[in-house]
Amino acid sequence: MNHDKEHLKTITEKIQNLPTINEIGRRIFALASDPEVSMGTLSHAIHQDPSLAARVLKVANSPFYGMSRQVDSLQLALVILGLNEVKNIALGLLLFKAIKKLNGNKSYDRTKFWFHSAACGVICRILGHKLSFRSEGTDFITGLLHDVGKIIIDQYFDSKFVTIFQKTFTHKPPMLIAEREILGESHEQLGRWLAEHWRLPETLCDAIMYHHELPSVETHAPIKDLRLASLSYIAEAFCELYNIGWDGDSGYSDIKDRRAWEILLSHQNAYAPKDIDRILTETLATFSEVRPHLLWL
Ligand SMILES: [Fe+2]
Ligand SMILES: [Fe+2]
Repeated sequence: MNHDKEHLKTITEKIQNLPTINEIGRRIFALASDPEVSMGTLSHAIHQDPSLAARVLKVANSPFYGMSRQVDSLQLALVILGLNEVKNIALGLLLFKAIKKLNGNKSYDRTKFWFHSAACGVICRILGHKLSFRSEGTDFITGLLHDVGKIIIDQYFDSKFVTIFQKTFTHKPPMLIAEREILGESHEQLGRWLAEHWRLPETLCDAIMYHHELPSVETHAPIKDLRLASLSYIAEAFCELYNIGWDGDSGYSDIKDRRAWEILLSHQNAYAPKDIDRILTETLATFSEVRPHLLWL
């Protein structure tokens, strides 16, 4: 029997306060959704968690972040990258670390899943930077959290997850099709509900929702930024094409999806549709440089 929408939404809300986020994390989390927060307050809060502060700087200085100079302090990162970008990187890292601590089903390979998620974050960032997409750090978090709905299903709908997983393994339908059939909703929808409850930016919630299927032109889903959604769609397809990590899904995303590329190429002049293969090759080359260092995320 499928769960109804309200029931699924209620369960998803339970994960709103992650038990794995400590007091300092909670403070950063609260500040991140405060549009009035100052650089000084945010910097002070992040410094309370030295490991988070170090990881924020590591991200800012990683080859995938595209910085032209070394960023050796949080203050400098705030000046160069801007408050929203640093806020989003910190929030993404905080949430990613917290959900990684949740226990899951033994048959679902979490190591490969986390690698897939981290890789998607990095690929969204590499592609976003290449295509002149200024997303204030939401590209990176989108990739990190795009499949968070699967963690909710694994954590709160254990027996359904096993059935979904077995069906996907045996009959090979894309996982989201099996989720809709067996649970009633897909991991994209659950991920979106959770992101909304975390008060993540609306563009990010939409990108999580549409990372396997962009909203059709006909339905005109009220989506604020189709570029972020297209980025998450292509990053997902990229991971599948080049076998990067594993999320249980296959055969659903098309790396050459015309609409996604039209949207991604529409706000820049450096690349044309004929350059898509080159973009993918260059992205893979940058990703290969970063790949050995991804596990610290
Ligand atoms: Fe997915
Ligand atoms: Fe994925």
